[in-house]
Amino acid sequence: MTSTQVGIVGAGPAGLVLAHLLHLEGIESVVLEARSREYVEGRVRAGVLEQVTVDLLNEAGVGERLRRQGMVHHGIELQFGGERHRIALSELTDGRAITVYGQQEVLKDLIAARLEAALPLLFEVDGVSVHGLDDRPSIRFRHEGKDTELRCDVIAGCDGFHGVCRDSIPEGVLTTYSREYPFAWLGILAAAPPSNEELIYAYHERGFALHSMRSPEITRLYLQCAPGEDLEQWSDERIWDELQTRLGLPGWHLNEGPILEKGVTPMRSFVVEPMRYGRLFLAGDAAHIVPPTGAKGLNLAVADVHVLADALVAWYRRGDEGSLDAYSATALARVWRAEHFSWWMTSMLHRADDADTFDVKLQVAQLAYVCSSRAAATSLAENYVGLERVAGAAPTRL
Ligand code: FAD
Ligand code: PHB
Repeated sequence: MTSTQVGIVGAGPAGLVLAHLLHLEGIESVVLEARSREYVEGRVRAGVLEQVTVDLLNEAGVGERLRRQGMVHHGIELQFGGERHRIALSELTDGRAITVYGQQEVLKDLIAARLEAALPLLFEVDGVSVHGLDDRPSIRFRHEGKDTELRCDVIAGCDGFHGVCRDSIPEGVLTTYSREYPFAWLGILAAAPPSNEELIYAYHERGFALHSMRSPEITRLYLQCAPGEDLEQWSDERIWDELQTRLGLPGWHLNEGPILEKGVTPMRSFVVEPMRYGRLFLAGDAAHIVPPTGAKGLNLAVADVHVLADALVAWYRRGDEGSLDAYSATALARVWRAEHFSWWMTSMLHRADDADTFDVKLQVAQLAYVCSSRAAATSLAENYVGLERVAGAAPTRL
């Protein structure tokens, strides 16, 4: 039997940022990760960091490479009806911006900082289970052939959507809210220089497409496809043809190059409430999922653990149970704002198979409004760069 203060399940953005923030405050933690370091550092996922996320990583002292290699963007483009319209993010939000920097680069920086400080981060743990959530929490797992029980004061369930922590909460405690969408994203990483300085979100009759990037040499592109789409049906040539059709404009060229990675991302909205049971606190994808159109998943995970770290510091320093009690409601206010924004961007930009002409007219009217009204554009911009503060809603009876 070993012990620590905070047992953290999962070394994704939520788990690693939490461990780092706690370390800066002198609070011990152990991070347990099911996958290997190579797998975690190689997994291609999110790419857009909100201003608040960048600020937090900088303040926490893990932003050195991010400052050098991150690509700061002051606007995005929305494309529909054969035209592109710029949303001037910084101009509309008092100079705030987004930074394009791959999720796995953030993880590499956090893993390097943790290992450099010789703090516990165990990869390839098996059979993780959590116990004693009401008053005597512990985590059981197997690592390098040895069964271990880790006693802790609290457990942070940062183990993603398919983790074990959420399902360890007794039945009847959590309320689940969810929505499935009738489409998914086929994403590629290509060895081709980005074709535009900024991201392009394109609404097209054949479906949504997105032009993003990872570096001056690497483009990240997405196409709306069917849920559970069979990648075998998508030759490189078909992918490029479809991207050229959906993103193409006269006089503009989409750079092509070898495809380095291909994957299908399902689209769903999902929230559980509350994000706590006893001494177990859920954070990030373990508690909520957003469709990727608003680029919010990673940012929300970081925002959750920022709140959780502050609450744990108040608890350890002053025995303040109130801060732990407030965690779920505080985090959920931001979660629901992001859920709405992500659902709204998704609904405005995707073409469902069964969309009728009424649906299409509404989408185009909304896009035209966002691109012509300063108030509507500001609303998109402030949500996209990330709200500094989100007011909590009074609890409602549903
Ligand atoms: P995760 O990153 O999922 O981390 C959880 C960790 O826990 C994982 O490393 C996992 O291996 C580990 N784990 C799971 N079970 C166990 C267990 N039993 N024991 C120990 N460890 C365990 N968001 C965006 O903002 N923009 C995007 O473009 C975008 N694209 C995405 C593409 C894909 C394919 C996916 C899957 C997600 C994407 N997201 C995107 C969402 C974003 O990546 C997530 O919101 C973010 O990773 C959440 O971080 P997290 O730490 O909560 O969870
Ligand atoms: C990405 O670069 O992977 C990306 C960018 C914007 C999104 C989603 C994904 O909305």
